[in-house]
Amino acid sequence: MGERLKGKVVLVTGGTRGIGKAIVEAVASEGAKVIINFRSSISEAEEMVRKLRDAGIDAISVRADVSKESEVERMFEIIRENYGILHGIVNNAGHGSGRIWNKRFTDLAWSDFEEVLSVDLKGTFLVSKFGVGLMRDGGSIVNVASISAKMGDIMGIPYLVAKAGVISLTKSMALWLAPKIRVNALVLGSIETGWINWLSDDEVKRIINYIPMGRLGRPEEVARAVVFLLSDESSFITGHAIVIDGGECMACD
Ligand SMILES: NC(=O)c1ccc[n+]([C@@H]2O[C@H](COP(=O)([O-])OP(=O)(O)OC[C@H]3O[C@@H](n4cnc5c(N)ncnc54)[C@H](OP(=O)(O)O)[C@@H]3O)[C@@H](O)[C@H]2O)c1
Repeated sequence: MGERLKGKVVLVTGGTRGIGKAIVEAVASEGAKVIINFRSSISEAEEMVRKLRDAGIDAISVRADVSKESEVERMFEIIRENYGILHGIVNNAGHGSGRIWNKRFTDLAWSDFEEVLSVDLKGTFLVSKFGVGLMRDGGSIVNVASISAKMGDIMGIPYLVAKAGVISLTKSMALWLAPKIRVNALVLGSIETGWINWLSDDEVKRIINYIPMGRLGRPEEVARAVVFLLSDESSFITGHAIVIDGGECMACD
């Protein structure tokens, strides 16, 4: 157990799977009290809270669809009742749909954009907007974006657009909220989580061919950067989009 986040209260959206789960574990292991947000993974959330409490860590889980304003507001009422204050927000929840990812430009409907934008971009906006009211002592917000937002692609266009919006929102929020609250984005390359299951072995090999580190990233490698950005070690870093991609897109900074 470390103490880099000792005494801080941190909310992680989409905290029960993949990168979000690794972030919750890393943040908790550095002494933070953790709020695990989830939308549908209730049993996973309950199990995580049980394990954290067994290890002596203060944790709660709160169900909220981050794309729904009333649910986000209710989530912060619960956080206020339980802790009264917040120091960190990790906007990790992401839409994640193979169905939309596999549509080409001319097959897309505007509703596909709305579906993804409502979670990745609107969710980041709503959670941040209502969350900052609880950050009385200052804090740090980490938004999760993607290198694909910087490159363009023939597939997954709504996702790329949403993540480009997240990077832009990060910079404007950093300006608006400085100097009390810092806001940064992590711009991720290919990290080994559930989406890998949509791909064949050959497709995974093709992706790895573009990564100088010769492998996919691990959720824990993202979580370590989140701990840094939430901690006072990064006290002069705000408004930046930091790339974690094993060298896949060196032009993405
Ligand atoms: N993995 C990668 O290679 C990669 C690359 C670039 C960026 N990213 C970004 O990193 C983040 C995490 O990715 P991941 O691969 O770990 O994703 P994942 O395994 O698909 O998990 C997505 C998480 O988001 C939550 N979520 C989805 N819609 C939600 C909503 N409306 N309200 C609240 N929570 C919601 C899910 O919660 P429930 O299970 O409870 O529904 C789940 O915990 C995402 O923002 C993703 O876009 C990932």
